[in-house]
Amino acid sequence: MAHSPTTITITGAGGQIGYALLFRIAAGDMLGPDRPVRLRLLEIPQGVRSAEGAALELQDCAFPLLHSVDVTDDIGRGFEGSELALLVGARPRTAGMERGDLLAANAGIFGPQGKAIAEHASDAVQVIAVGNPANTNALIARASAEGVPADRFSALTRLDHNRAVGQLASLLDASPDGIRDIAIWGNHSATQFPDVSHATVDGTPVPALLADRMGADAAALWLDEDFVPRVAKRGAEIIEVRGSSSVASAANGTIDHVRDLVLGRPAEAGWTSAAVVSTGQYGVPEGLVCSFPVRSSGAGYEVVEGLELDDRARSRIDASVAELVAERDAVRELGIL
Ligand code: NAD
Ligand code: LMR
Repeated sequence: MAHSPTTITITGAGGQIGYALLFRIAAGDMLGPDRPVRLRLLEIPQGVRSAEGAALELQDCAFPLLHSVDVTDDIGRGFEGSELALLVGARPRTAGMERGDLLAANAGIFGPQGKAIAEHASDAVQVIAVGNPANTNALIARASAEGVPADRFSALTRLDHNRAVGQLASLLDASPDGIRDIAIWGNHSATQFPDVSHATVDGTPVPALLADRMGADAAALWLDEDFVPRVAKRGAEIIEVRGSSSVASAANGTIDHVRDLVLGRPAEAGWTSAAVVSTGQYGVPEGLVCSFPVRSSGAGYEVVEGLELDDRARSRIDASVAELVAERDAVRELGIL
């Protein structure tokens, strides 16, 4: 049976990530080759012309799956009937800033958007925060979206997950396809914990592969001093090298996140990572939007529970969760929560 068009709101659609995202969504990369899409591009007045330009180009691609494109700076219209709300629009950081420095600048955006989602979006809406600081922006949107269930909110750490897979694939000369069960824990920030302790490459445990290759002590050192900071600080590395923050890889992570969320992820592909609203898993305070290893059957992300955490993992996760608590408290002090 033919699917009816899925209504997708992309905020900040006139920006860099928006430009990388729109064409892939319209080409079917996110929801598959059989689901038409109705795009709502929500911008602030200064961004409308850029979004309109992207809309003209979308038309020029003649994508068979593209039902329609609306550009607006009216927040209610932007979220009208939205089934997928991709909250991208926010100020990106520049060299020398941490993502947390964006808290005050971007917090004012996500509250009104959460409220508009509650008032105008579909009852089935899924809300994904991409704009930074992504975890806390999702928390703010959720707090303002009265009546929208907590499990509809997530934030992007799939880019971090993909970065971790990419680093491991390159070190071990392996195909990313053969790498399973990496986890990103905590905040989408430099405190995140990219964890390979349960990961496998073509069925072989990664800790054993690393120990074979470099010896157990050197492997532990490599993980702590090379792998973890490389992944956790990759955003800053991109800013330094490119001169501005990641775009195509961020759009790609968003596509991966939404596809697995909505269409499901085959069990044999292993778990992935997403920041979801904690219900207390692994001791993370309820209500924080924290990255966990997750699975999806197509009805939202479920946290992979029951994993053993050693002391190293526990203390790294606790440090990142402490940062999430501090961000939540800072937002409370700004009077936004
Ligand atoms: P950009 O500056 O190119 O685009 C942002 C767009 O958002 C602009 O067009 C701006 O007009 C628009 N905007 C601002 N306020 C808005 C509002 N209230 N409503 C609608 N639109 C609004 O930035 P970018 O490179 O596209 O990055 C967007 C965000 O994504 C930044 O916060 C960046 O840090 C973040 N990001 C997150 C990840 C991640 O993995 N979570 C990765 C990369 C970038
Ligand atoms: C990233 O991880 O690339 C983004 O969050 C952008 C940034 O500020 O690091």
